[in-house]
Amino acid sequence: MKIFLDSANIDEIKTLSETGLIDGVTTNPSLIAKSGMNFIDAIEKICSIINGPVSAEVTGVDQTTMVKEGQKLSKIAPNVVIKVPLTMEGLKACKTLSDEKINVNVTLCFNAAQAILAAKAGATYISPFIGRLDDIGADGMNLISEIVEIYNIYNFKTEVLAASIRGVQDVVDSAKFGADIATIPTNILRSMYLHPLTDKGLDAFLSDWAKTGQSIL
Ligand code: E4P
Repeated sequence: MKIFLDSANIDEIKTLSETGLIDGVTTNPSLIAKSGMNFIDAIEKICSIINGPVSAEVTGVDQTTMVKEGQKLSKIAPNVVIKVPLTMEGLKACKTLSDEKINVNVTLCFNAAQAILAAKAGATYISPFIGRLDDIGADGMNLISEIVEIYNIYNFKTEVLAASIRGVQDVVDSAKFGADIATIPTNILRSMYLHPLTDKGLDAFLSDWAKTGQSIL
């Protein structure tokens, strides 16, 4: 499973990219607003740090505007992916952009019917929002499972990008259900490294090692 960072925080993206584990980045207008940066500058900077797909979201609501915005954003760097909302206009824009060989991430997907349409529209990625479904008492992970099952039956090439991840277990479950990618907030990625028994075990090893008086280097 590929790991994307769900962030527009340049410092965090830079730091976590040094792990060598980051395959891409997703942003959205809320994350850009939170970063306080100019949108184009932020995407340009993230693309220079990350050697992988970087999603930049359009803000128009009609096909023509979304296509124009997508064409402009796609010129920022070769690894820019255009993010469009899962509306009829968004999927029309997706079809146009993907016909122009521009990679598209269809976002705000909340059911499998929408995911079928996105695949038919040539989406490179579909982004089902797990956490926001769980927030309203629905089952976000069931959606991942349904989309993976359907895409496999029809051999759709669209990759399933598990989004709106709220915790480490969402990452694990997304992997179990066959999502191609999880886009993970930076704090949750950091949590994935942690287990109290790892810390406890390491403390014990280091304390016993100190007693030997030895040094490896
Ligand atoms: C990523 O592409 C989405 O925009 C993001 O995961 C949404 O997450 P949220 O529901 O925590 O805002």
